[in-house]
Amino acid sequence: MELKQQAIEILRRNDRGGYTVPTATGLYPAQWNWDSCLVALGLVQFDEPRAVTEIETLFGGQWPDGMVPHILFHGDDSSYFPNAAVWQAGPTGRSSGITQPLVAATVVRRLFEGTSDPVIRARLTALAPKLLAWHRWCYAARDPHGTGLVSIIHPWESGMDNSPVWDDALDAVEPGPSVTHLRKDTGFATADHRPRGPEYDRYINLVIKFRDNGYRADRLFDIAPFRVADVGFNAILQRANRDLRALLTATGDIAGAAEVEAMEERTGDAIGRCWHEEDGFFYGVETRTEKVIRKPGVPGLLPLFADAGVAARHPRLVKRLESWLARVTYGVPSFEPGRPEFEPQRYWRGPVWLIVNWMLIDGLRRNGRAELAERIRRDSLTLVERMGFAEYFNPLTGEPLGGTGFSWTAAMYLHIAANE
Ligand code: GLC
Repeated sequence: MELKQQAIEILRRNDRGGYTVPTATGLYPAQWNWDSCLVALGLVQFDEPRAVTEIETLFGGQWPDGMVPHILFHGDDSSYFPNAAVWQAGPTGRSSGITQPLVAATVVRRLFEGTSDPVIRARLTALAPKLLAWHRWCYAARDPHGTGLVSIIHPWESGMDNSPVWDDALDAVEPGPSVTHLRKDTGFATADHRPRGPEYDRYINLVIKFRDNGYRADRLFDIAPFRVADVGFNAILQRANRDLRALLTATGDIAGAAEVEAMEERTGDAIGRCWHEEDGFFYGVETRTEKVIRKPGVPGLLPLFADAGVAARHPRLVKRLESWLARVTYGVPSFEPGRPEFEPQRYWRGPVWLIVNWMLIDGLRRNGRAELAERIRRDSLTLVERMGFAEYFNPLTGEPLGGTGFSWTAAMYLHIAANE
């Protein structure tokens, strides 16, 4: 079967009626926030109304304070830990209590501008105020002192769970009791490809702490033992701010657009301050200690996705990316190859993720680096052609890793193959 057709089949197979599970293997039996948004970019290639439904279902789980949770548990979640019964979060008790990168506005803008169907446009227009409420929540809850950089309070919020970028901040968190015997993920994927035990214990201990505090947005920022203003999370937010402003303008919400413009100005300046002149890289900060996190992970490349002017101001950043690519067979590794923390097969400590590739392809094009974007585009398509629709890939060998028949890999394949 043709690969595009295979990608469509995967998205259909993983469709649970209104939302798409990341994989049908049982590893992730729920709706994940940024997975759904990125999956919509694939769905729109063959079923526009269904793409909109994916986002509508996600926003159906929005909390009254504006937060959109990182997981919505719609059905049987017994193959996942921590499931809804552990989280006990939100008005219905069917979600997690933390968020994930705010890519939704970027996707909704793309859907809006890509359609001429008035019904689709009306549905997307109805999402605009919900998007605005989420962005507002993000600044209020996670940047209460108005620095322009929002903080994540759990590594899962970054979407890059076990990146070496979080190691030091996570070390400061009490591990709590071991949860190794409760883990389900290692029953579906090789343990060597997943986060280690001590990390997982801390992930869960953070969840318990937030649960004990009733997931109150006005409290979590202060009590969170893990608090990182990540440059990648903020770059994705900044790109989404830009796209949200365009969407609000196009749908006639002038006051909303002005509000977002103010967010954009603050965050744009703040990301600029994350540039580390000596190292020639963008770094985030541990906001408890104000310590700069000098770890070259893929989050530090994402300002390219946010801002078209980055490569001109910081040509060393693109050189650095080129040096990473020179050391691998397939780009883009999620952490700098050659560093002691680099592990080519362990989740976010080295492997290639197609969703990140798409952000970098898009960012490089916006920054006038179309040839480099093309190299990453070719690598992305080749990986799928040779290795299938894996969750992530070893950058040295291409070995497919993690879950199989993966929704966002299928969606990114369709999106990238369509040259978007
Ligand atoms: C993992 C990834 C996260 C993703 C989720 C579902 O937790 O790190 O980014 O959203 O799986 O695919």
